[in-house]
Amino acid sequence: MPTITINGVACEFKKGERILDIANRCGIEIPQYCYHPGLSVPAQCRICLAEVHAPNPRNDNKVEPMMGGKLLPTCATEASDGMVVFANNPKSVANQKAVMEYLLINHPLDCPVCDQAGECSLQDYSYKYGRGTSRFEETKVKQPKKDLGPNIYIYSDRCIMCTRCVRFTREIPGTGEIMIDGRGNRSEIDVFPGVPLDNDLSANVVDLCPVGALLDKDFLFSQRVWFLKSTPTIDGLTSSGDNLWADHNQNRIHRFRPRENMDVNTWWITDEVRYSWKHVQSDDRIQSPMRREHGVLIDTDWQRALDQMLEGVRDAGTLAVLISPMLACEEAYALAKLARTLDANALLAMGPVPVDGSDKHFDNPAAGRPFIARAEKAPNARGVQRVLNAIGGEITDFDGFCRALGHGSGHSNVGAVVITGNYPSTWATSALHHALGGKHVTLIDTLESDLVNDADVVLPSCTWLEKAGTFENAEGTLQAFDRALVPLGQSKSEGQIALDALAVLAGDDLDRPRAGYAAMIVDEGPGQVPAATASVATPLTEPFDAADVREEMAAESSALQVFMTDVATPPAKPKKQPDAPIVEL
Ligand code: SF4
Ligand code: FES
Repeated sequence: MPTITINGVACEFKKGERILDIANRCGIEIPQYCYHPGLSVPAQCRICLAEVHAPNPRNDNKVEPMMGGKLLPTCATEASDGMVVFANNPKSVANQKAVMEYLLINHPLDCPVCDQAGECSLQDYSYKYGRGTSRFEETKVKQPKKDLGPNIYIYSDRCIMCTRCVRFTREIPGTGEIMIDGRGNRSEIDVFPGVPLDNDLSANVVDLCPVGALLDKDFLFSQRVWFLKSTPTIDGLTSSGDNLWADHNQNRIHRFRPRENMDVNTWWITDEVRYSWKHVQSDDRIQSPMRREHGVLIDTDWQRALDQMLEGVRDAGTLAVLISPMLACEEAYALAKLARTLDANALLAMGPVPVDGSDKHFDNPAAGRPFIARAEKAPNARGVQRVLNAIGGEITDFDGFCRALGHGSGHSNVGAVVITGNYPSTWATSALHHALGGKHVTLIDTLESDLVNDADVVLPSCTWLEKAGTFENAEGTLQAFDRALVPLGQSKSEGQIALDALAVLAGDDLDRPRAGYAAMIVDEGPGQVPAATASVATPLTEPFDAADVREEMAAESSALQVFMTDVATPPAKPKKQPDAPIVEL
């Protein structure tokens, strides 16, 4: 394999790779602003310049400086075998310092109020490559703050004119709303008159902007980034399986960011997915179990709620269980096992799969595959169906489920129904409401809805951010995700509810903690303010462990062995090490 030496480190590379790509892959730092692997390469900011030597075939392959020793942009120079790159020699370092001094001439010193502080390339490189003092005595050019569109502000005087945002809107969504207005140090990023930055991918420019010029209105002044913990998660709204970082602090989500996965979402996410966490912190979350007594729903505890659910199932005829495509595969399995334990002939079905329009394909030339915004608004329809098919027995679809509950059908003796929701908004159809009449209904859901009025028992469940599990996306990729938040109020994951119901059925007492499971530990990471006040639903039975359930699934059915072989697991959480310990004031 061909080899290149960068700053004294030998690296193997594939033909066509650029020097900066190789350095980034091998963990060798070369400063960079305008370069992004998903966009075209204008070699514009000039900070990545380095002295490059290469074998000269016209001189016996002797290693000689290229271009007479001029500095070359490593982001735009293809590597060749035997190259030797000096990005840390005096000549390259002098250039880095000169570029930093130029970029800081007009840059405001507003880091204390800038959202990007703490994750700003300009701040970081200024610390590492800057001069430390400014020689500029003239007046800085001041530029305006502008509203670019529904999600984005620009604070123009922080811009370093890297043009990533301009290239992104032209090359990926293809809408080209952003342009450069003016010349020289009066250049400004702006949108064309009457054309706001309003496309399906608009907020990606915030992630792309290496400084704090492009700002997400939703995140603006919401948190200092050094307080945020990042948990790897998966899109919980659509069937894309987009990889995400969920950034949170003190048990509240503050933003989603795309997590690079070249086999799924590459570098991007849609705005729909980016803001898909809002319902997780909704005031409409169901936070306590409820049971119907004398026709009225009253708050209760888990023991009584599960007792009433099991009593209702025991006294009624056939059981029917609706498993939502919003749930993880492991939970679908646990609920199906519970159903078949309660009634060997239980009817199982997957809940409705919302679809909005059709898939949208976006050009993504650098990735060699399009970026797709999915019309299917459920993250795991394929995974739930895969589990149900493997479990076998009486399985139907949502329409069949509603029909089976109706009179005169083959399943007209269905007397008890367990339905799971976990959708981000109202989801039940009139056919479902109608079919539930006269049945003993247990509702396991996250948000208050009309369905509560149909229910005899209501069990609060957690959103995907409050549990771990596996989703199968539209392309059949199985991806596991971690828990980011502690469950809200008394809510539990559907998998935990299934385990608790089996424990109660076996005679366990939920009021008495099992030894060793009385406390839930919240890992807030080093130097962070602990979420000591977060309300924690103490697990009183065996905790539901998605990894254990995957093992059990694979052992039970050959059709489910993919859960041991094909599940992509999330990367380790990045631990932020602050320069000094952060103390709670
Ligand atoms: S606004 Fe940000 S991304 Fe756009 S050119 Fe300026 S620095 Fe680059
Ligand atoms: S990163 Fe190479 S010129 Fe900007």
